[in-house]
Amino acid sequence: MKREQWGSRAGFILAAVGSAIGLGNIWRFPYMAYENGGGAFFIPYIFAMLTAGIPFMILEFSLGKKYRGSAPVTLAKIHKKFEWLGWFQVGVAAIIAVYYVAVIGWSISYLGMSFTQSWGTDTNAFFFSEYLKLGDNSPTNLGNIQWNIAFTVLIAWAITYAAVAGGVKAGIERASKIMMPILFIMVLILIGRMVFLPGALDGVNYMFKPDFSKIMDVKVWAAAYGQIFFTLSIGFAIMLAYSSYLPEKSDVTNNAFMTVLINCGFSMMAGIMIFSVLGYMAQEQGVAITEVVSAGVGLAFVTLPAAINLMPAPYILGPLFFFALTVAGLSSLISIIEAVTSAVIDKFQWSRRKAANLVVGVSAVVSLAFTTNGGLLLLDLIDHFANNIGIIFGGLVEIVLVVWLMKQVGQVREYVNKVSDFSVGTWFEICLRFVTPLMLAVILATKLYEMFTVGYGGYDLTLGWVVMGVITVIAVAINLSSRRKAETQSPQEQEA
Ligand code: ALA
Repeated sequence: MKREQWGSRAGFILAAVGSAIGLGNIWRFPYMAYENGGGAFFIPYIFAMLTAGIPFMILEFSLGKKYRGSAPVTLAKIHKKFEWLGWFQVGVAAIIAVYYVAVIGWSISYLGMSFTQSWGTDTNAFFFSEYLKLGDNSPTNLGNIQWNIAFTVLIAWAITYAAVAGGVKAGIERASKIMMPILFIMVLILIGRMVFLPGALDGVNYMFKPDFSKIMDVKVWAAAYGQIFFTLSIGFAIMLAYSSYLPEKSDVTNNAFMTVLINCGFSMMAGIMIFSVLGYMAQEQGVAITEVVSAGVGLAFVTLPAAINLMPAPYILGPLFFFALTVAGLSSLISIIEAVTSAVIDKFQWSRRKAANLVVGVSAVVSLAFTTNGGLLLLDLIDHFANNIGIIFGGLVEIVLVVWLMKQVGQVREYVNKVSDFSVGTWFEICLRFVTPLMLAVILATKLYEMFTVGYGGYDLTLGWVVMGVITVIAVAINLSSRRKAETQSPQEQEA
């Protein structure tokens, strides 16, 4: 079967940027920056972007393009014993997809409510009690499916299915070409309005005001690296799949730089937008900005609705914000699902539609768990594992296998320099050989230690470990069965 291809360079960049820019930029980045030292967070963040984000993006673009396969195929082509890592990364992508879609579902609901601000004045009570109906639930005592939330989640699945089943060019590329310009225009309008609200600049100053006591804290560095991998969609099968559809003659380096810089620039813009709103809100209520900020999930679904209530023309700015959040989330969800779908297509040689039916069908059913009363808590738990263990482990092992064991980094550099608009120097090798693996190893060790000693969020972590264990076992089992099959096949069969 001939591999599908992107229709144009711009189409590929829009799709890669669409994957990168997502809930991670609008929903997660501002509270990450806030919780990890405000302005001081930018030092580890920029460091992580330069030493890990850019080199890793170049690495994944070049591997995907060179080996022309989804993550398991690409890694298996590098060495037949590495296929499991590809499946592990696909597994991480699959579990991210099933909770990521829930946040998009909330965003769709809030888009509907934003026209009349029907969330009322107590947005905190509304979100947790009325909307999620979170009682004394826990990740293992989920309560019932909230069908109003499930409905919006199914809308998100329908759009994602249409794009992924439609194919690389006619589905994903076309969706990105529509979604990305709309997203940029909406965010520009929002920023243009928000920064001129009274008090906005105080909010922005607050975001950039560094708290240098945090910079020596390994947790802040862990947050920055985790954020870079998540926001750039690297280390969890996505960019390998997307770059496997690049035509022979495509550039790698320039495309990677553009994707990273556009994404991180967008995060800054989203941060400025959100903190302008917080500054305005603090001024309107005559309180300090620390009193209006709520961390985590609440920032987008509690604080923002409260701020929208206070704004001029809330029926325009509210829908614009939630529409932007929804579009950003959908274009990323499409890529996460494509990472899984492409692996299924490559493995079973199925048609794209059949693979998409299976992947979206199963994911949609599993995602209903996140639309229950306790869905938010389950999401928090699984997200913590996916990001701090799944992505970091997947990224670290990828470097160890490709760069250290197979010693491919010199070869990759030569290859990208041959095909790209501009060349990369020795810094590329230094980052991938030493800086990034060292940082990832320290972060992973710290996270594991923290989870075994302090735990996380007061949850029973068993479920998180079970999920990680299950995807590892499945990944290894598929790898073993492929190798067994290859051993029993004749060389001619293997060629075919
Ligand atoms: N890169 C995507 C995001 O930031 C997953 O949301």
